[in-house]
Amino acid sequence: MAPLTINSVIRMDSGFDIPALGYGVYQTPEKECEDVVLQSFKAGYRHVDSAISYKNEAACGSAILKSGIPRKDIFFTSKIPTRTLKTHIKELEEERGEGKGGVISVGQWELHPWLQRPDIVGWCQKRGVILEAYSPLVRGERLEDKLIQPLAKKYGKTAAQVLVRWSLQRGFVPLPKSVTPSRILENADVFDFELTAEDMKSLETDEYSPCCWDPTKATLQD
Ligand SMILES: NC(=O)c1ccc[n+]([C@@H]2O[C@H](COP(=O)([O-])OP(=O)(O)OC[C@H]3O[C@@H](n4cnc5c(N)ncnc54)[C@H](OP(=O)(O)O)[C@@H]3O)[C@@H](O)[C@H]2O)c1
Repeated sequence: MAPLTINSVIRMDSGFDIPALGYGVYQTPEKECEDVVLQSFKAGYRHVDSAISYKNEAACGSAILKSGIPRKDIFFTSKIPTRTLKTHIKELEEERGEGKGGVISVGQWELHPWLQRPDIVGWCQKRGVILEAYSPLVRGERLEDKLIQPLAKKYGKTAAQVLVRWSLQRGFVPLPKSVTPSRILENADVFDFELTAEDMKSLETDEYSPCCWDPTKATLQD
Protein backbone atom coordinates (compact mmCIF):
# COMPACT_ATOMS: atom_id res chain seq x y z
CA MET A 1 0.00 0.00 0.00
CA ALA A 2 1.28 3.48 -0.88
CA PRO A 3 2.13 5.56 2.19
CA LEU A 4 -0.84 7.50 3.51
CA THR A 5 -0.73 11.26 3.00
CA ILE A 6 -3.14 14.12 3.55
CA ASN A 7 -4.00 13.74 -0.15
CA SER A 8 -4.75 10.01 0.00
CA VAL A 9 -8.03 8.96 -1.56
CA ILE A 10 -9.93 5.70 -1.77
CA ARG A 11 -11.74 4.68 -4.96
CA MET A 12 -15.41 3.90 -4.31
CA ASP A 13 -17.57 1.42 -6.20
CA SER A 14 -19.28 4.39 -7.82
CA GLY A 15 -15.97 5.19 -9.52
CA PHE A 16 -15.46 8.40 -7.54
CA ASP A 17 -12.64 8.95 -5.07
CA ILE A 18 -13.22 9.75 -1.43
CA PRO A 19 -10.46 11.52 0.57
CA ALA A 20 -9.15 9.17 3.24
CA LEU A 21 -9.49 11.81 5.96
CA GLY A 22 -12.69 13.76 6.54
CA TYR A 23 -13.65 16.70 8.71
CA GLY A 24 -16.87 16.43 10.72
CA VAL A 25 -19.11 19.37 11.53
CA TYR A 26 -21.77 17.80 13.75
CA GLN A 27 -22.76 20.33 16.44
CA THR A 28 -20.64 23.02 14.83
CA PRO A 29 -22.69 26.19 15.24
CA GLU A 30 -23.74 27.70 11.93
CA LYS A 31 -22.03 31.00 12.58
CA GLU A 32 -18.66 29.37 13.30
CA CYS A 33 -18.95 26.80 10.56
CA GLU A 34 -17.75 28.76 7.53
CA ASP A 35 -14.62 29.83 9.37
CA VAL A 36 -13.69 26.38 10.71
CA VAL A 37 -14.34 24.66 7.39
CA LEU A 38 -12.03 27.21 5.75
CA GLN A 39 -9.45 26.40 8.42
CA SER A 40 -9.84 22.73 7.69
CA PHE A 41 -9.14 23.37 3.99
CA LYS A 42 -6.01 25.31 4.94
CA ALA A 43 -4.93 22.32 7.03
CA GLY A 44 -5.34 20.12 3.96
CA TYR A 45 -8.68 18.39 4.49
CA ARG A 46 -10.73 18.09 1.30
CA HIS A 47 -13.70 16.23 2.75
CA VAL A 48 -16.44 17.75 4.90
CA ASP A 49 -19.09 15.66 6.62
CA SER A 50 -22.32 17.50 7.32
CA ALA A 51 -26.05 16.70 7.22
CA ILE A 52 -29.33 18.50 6.77
CA SER A 53 -29.98 18.05 10.48
CA TYR A 54 -26.68 19.73 11.44
CA LYS A 55 -28.15 23.00 10.13
CA ASN A 56 -24.79 24.20 8.86
CA GLU A 57 -24.76 23.04 5.26
CA ALA A 58 -25.14 26.56 3.88
CA ALA A 59 -22.11 27.69 5.88
CA CYS A 60 -20.13 24.71 4.53
CA GLY A 61 -21.19 25.68 1.00
CA SER A 62 -20.10 29.23 1.59
CA ALA A 63 -16.68 28.03 2.80
CA ILE A 64 -16.33 25.85 -0.28
CA LEU A 65 -17.06 28.85 -2.51
CA LYS A 66 -14.74 31.18 -0.61
CA SER A 67 -11.89 28.69 -0.46
CA GLY A 68 -11.14 29.05 -4.17
CA ILE A 69 -10.46 25.29 -4.28
CA PRO A 70 -11.96 23.71 -7.40
CA ARG A 71 -15.29 22.14 -6.46
CA LYS A 72 -14.24 18.82 -7.99
CA ASP A 73 -11.45 18.59 -5.42
CA ILE A 74 -13.78 18.79 -2.43
CA PHE A 75 -15.85 15.87 -1.20
CA PHE A 76 -18.95 17.08 0.62
CA THR A 77 -21.29 14.73 2.45
CA SER A 78 -24.88 15.55 3.27
CA LYS A 79 -27.36 13.22 4.94
CA ILE A 80 -31.05 13.19 4.49
CA PRO A 81 -33.47 12.43 7.29
CA THR A 82 -34.53 8.77 7.33
CA ARG A 83 -38.20 9.77 7.19
CA THR A 84 -37.65 11.19 3.66
CA LEU A 85 -35.30 8.35 2.51
CA LYS A 86 -38.04 6.48 0.65
CA THR A 87 -39.00 9.62 -1.31
CA HIS A 88 -35.38 10.19 -2.28
CA ILE A 89 -34.73 6.64 -3.45
CA LYS A 90 -37.92 6.88 -5.52
CA GLU A 91 -36.73 10.10 -7.12
CA LEU A 92 -33.37 8.51 -7.94
CA GLU A 93 -35.10 5.53 -9.47
CA GLU A 94 -37.34 7.78 -11.54
CA GLU A 95 -34.24 9.53 -12.80
CA ARG A 96 -32.09 6.45 -13.43
CA GLY A 97 -34.48 3.57 -13.90
CA GLU A 98 -35.94 0.89 -11.68
CA GLY A 99 -33.46 -0.75 -9.35
CA LYS A 100 -30.80 1.79 -10.26
CA GLY A 101 -31.50 4.25 -7.47
CA GLY A 102 -27.95 4.09 -6.31
CA VAL A 103 -25.13 1.88 -5.14
CA ILE A 104 -23.89 1.61 -1.59
CA SER A 105 -20.48 3.22 -1.85
CA VAL A 106 -19.96 4.03 1.82
CA GLY A 107 -21.36 3.11 5.19
CA GLN A 108 -20.95 5.48 8.10
CA TRP A 109 -20.57 3.94 11.55
CA GLU A 110 -19.16 4.80 14.94
CA LEU A 111 -15.81 3.03 14.85
CA HIS A 112 -12.86 3.25 17.23
CA PRO A 113 -10.89 0.78 19.33
CA TRP A 114 -13.76 0.43 21.81
CA LEU A 115 -16.37 -0.20 19.13
CA GLN A 116 -14.86 -2.18 16.26
CA ARG A 117 -18.06 -3.70 14.87
CA PRO A 118 -16.38 -6.72 13.19
CA ASP A 119 -19.71 -7.95 11.77
CA ILE A 120 -20.52 -4.70 9.99
CA VAL A 121 -16.91 -4.06 8.97
CA GLY A 122 -16.67 -7.55 7.49
CA TRP A 123 -19.98 -7.14 5.63
CA CYS A 124 -18.90 -3.84 4.11
CA GLN A 125 -15.37 -4.93 3.23
CA LYS A 126 -16.63 -8.06 1.51
CA ARG A 127 -18.79 -5.88 -0.73
CA GLY A 128 -16.31 -3.06 -1.33
CA VAL A 129 -18.32 -0.62 0.77
CA ILE A 130 -16.00 2.04 2.22
CA LEU A 131 -16.30 2.45 5.99
CA GLU A 132 -16.48 5.99 7.28
CA ALA A 133 -15.71 6.22 11.00
CA TYR A 134 -17.77 8.69 12.93
CA SER A 135 -16.88 9.75 16.47
CA PRO A 136 -13.34 8.49 15.75
CA LEU A 137 -12.05 10.44 18.76
CA VAL A 138 -14.73 8.91 21.00
CA ARG A 139 -15.78 12.54 21.48
CA GLY A 140 -12.62 13.10 23.50
CA GLU A 141 -13.90 10.82 26.27
CA ARG A 142 -11.11 8.24 26.28
CA LEU A 143 -8.02 10.19 25.41
CA GLU A 144 -6.44 9.29 28.74
CA ASP A 145 -7.14 5.58 28.30
CA LYS A 146 -4.30 3.20 29.13
CA LEU A 147 -4.62 1.59 25.73
CA ILE A 148 -3.79 4.81 23.88
CA GLN A 149 -1.42 6.67 26.18
CA PRO A 150 1.63 4.37 25.72
CA LEU A 151 1.36 4.75 21.94
CA ALA A 152 0.99 8.52 22.18
CA LYS A 153 4.19 8.58 24.26
CA LYS A 154 5.99 6.15 21.96
CA TYR A 155 5.44 8.32 18.88
CA GLY A 156 5.43 11.75 20.55
CA LYS A 157 1.90 12.31 19.21
CA THR A 158 -1.37 13.03 20.99
CA ALA A 159 -3.96 10.41 21.86
CA ALA A 160 -6.30 11.97 19.28
CA GLN A 161 -3.65 11.57 16.59
CA VAL A 162 -3.15 7.91 17.52
CA LEU A 163 -6.90 7.34 17.16
CA VAL A 164 -7.06 9.03 13.75
CA ARG A 165 -4.03 7.05 12.60
CA TRP A 166 -5.54 3.76 13.86
CA SER A 167 -8.66 4.49 11.86
CA LEU A 168 -6.74 5.31 8.67
CA GLN A 169 -4.59 2.20 9.02
CA ARG A 170 -7.71 0.06 9.46
CA GLY A 171 -8.70 1.39 6.04
CA PHE A 172 -11.52 3.49 7.48
CA VAL A 173 -12.26 7.10 6.59
CA PRO A 174 -12.20 8.92 9.94
CA LEU A 175 -14.26 12.08 10.33
CA PRO A 176 -12.76 13.89 13.35
CA LYS A 177 -14.69 16.98 14.39
CA SER A 178 -13.24 20.04 16.04
CA VAL A 179 -14.01 23.72 16.18
CA THR A 180 -10.65 24.41 17.85
CA PRO A 181 -8.05 25.74 15.38
CA SER A 182 -5.11 23.91 16.96
CA ARG A 183 -7.04 20.63 17.03
CA ILE A 184 -8.13 20.97 13.40
CA LEU A 185 -4.43 21.03 12.55
CA GLU A 186 -3.54 18.37 15.11
CA ASN A 187 -6.07 15.85 13.83
CA ALA A 188 -4.69 16.15 10.30
CA ASP A 189 -1.05 15.95 11.40
CA VAL A 190 -0.98 12.17 11.38
CA PHE A 191 1.05 11.35 8.32
CA ASP A 192 4.54 11.39 9.84
CA PHE A 193 4.24 8.20 11.85
CA GLU A 194 2.92 4.70 11.38
CA LEU A 195 1.55 2.30 13.96
CA THR A 196 3.23 -1.10 13.73
CA ALA A 197 1.29 -4.34 13.37
CA GLU A 198 2.02 -4.92 17.05
CA ASP A 199 0.62 -1.49 17.98
CA MET A 200 -2.49 -2.16 15.93
CA LYS A 201 -2.88 -5.51 17.69
CA SER A 202 -2.59 -3.77 21.07
CA LEU A 203 -5.60 -1.63 20.11
CA GLU A 204 -7.84 -4.62 19.42
CA THR A 205 -10.62 -4.82 21.98
CA ASP A 206 -13.93 -6.60 22.04
CA GLU A 207 -15.60 -3.76 23.90
CA TYR A 208 -18.93 -2.53 22.63
CA SER A 209 -18.97 1.00 23.97
CA PRO A 210 -20.72 3.51 21.72
CA CYS A 211 -20.38 7.16 22.69
CA CYS A 212 -23.02 8.26 20.19
CA TRP A 213 -26.39 6.97 19.00
CA ASP A 214 -26.40 3.34 17.88
CA PRO A 215 -28.16 2.87 14.53
CA THR A 216 -28.16 -0.90 14.99
CA LYS A 217 -30.47 -0.44 17.97
CA ALA A 218 -32.35 2.75 17.10
CA THR A 219 -35.68 2.83 15.35
CA LEU A 220 -36.27 4.78 12.14
CA GLN A 221 -37.97 7.46 14.25
CA ASP A 222 -34.84 8.06 16.42
N1 LIG B 1 -23.85 9.37 10.74
C1 LIG B 1 -24.01 9.62 12.02
O1 LIG B 1 -24.97 9.19 12.66
C2 LIG B 1 -22.99 10.43 12.76
C3 LIG B 1 -23.04 10.47 14.14
C4 LIG B 1 -22.09 11.20 14.81
C5 LIG B 1 -21.11 11.87 14.11
N2 LIG B 1 -21.07 11.84 12.75
C6 LIG B 1 -20.02 12.56 11.99
O2 LIG B 1 -18.74 12.26 12.55
C7 LIG B 1 -18.10 13.46 12.99
C8 LIG B 1 -17.23 13.19 14.21
O3 LIG B 1 -17.96 12.61 15.26
P1 LIG B 1 -18.27 13.37 16.63
O4 LIG B 1 -18.39 14.82 16.39
O5 LIG B 1 -19.40 12.64 17.26
O6 LIG B 1 -17.02 13.06 17.57
P2 LIG B 1 -15.41 13.07 17.52
O7 LIG B 1 -14.90 13.60 16.24
O8 LIG B 1 -14.99 11.73 17.99
O9 LIG B 1 -15.07 14.06 18.71
C9 LIG B 1 -15.37 15.42 18.68
C10 LIG B 1 -15.08 15.98 20.07
O10 LIG B 1 -13.69 15.80 20.38
C11 LIG B 1 -13.09 17.08 20.63
N3 LIG B 1 -11.76 17.03 19.98
C12 LIG B 1 -11.50 17.14 18.66
N4 LIG B 1 -10.20 17.04 18.41
C13 LIG B 1 -9.60 16.88 19.62
C14 LIG B 1 -8.25 16.74 20.02
N5 LIG B 1 -7.27 16.72 19.13
N6 LIG B 1 -7.99 16.61 21.36
C15 LIG B 1 -9.00 16.61 22.26
N7 LIG B 1 -10.31 16.73 21.94
C16 LIG B 1 -10.60 16.87 20.62
C17 LIG B 1 -13.99 18.10 20.00
O11 LIG B 1 -13.91 19.32 20.70
P3 LIG B 1 -13.83 20.76 19.98
O12 LIG B 1 -14.76 20.75 18.79
O13 LIG B 1 -14.29 21.68 21.07
O14 LIG B 1 -12.39 20.98 19.59
C18 LIG B 1 -15.35 17.46 20.18
O15 LIG B 1 -15.84 17.69 21.50
C19 LIG B 1 -19.27 14.40 13.26
O16 LIG B 1 -18.88 15.76 13.32
C20 LIG B 1 -20.18 14.07 12.10
O17 LIG B 1 -19.73 14.71 10.92
C21 LIG B 1 -22.00 11.11 12.07
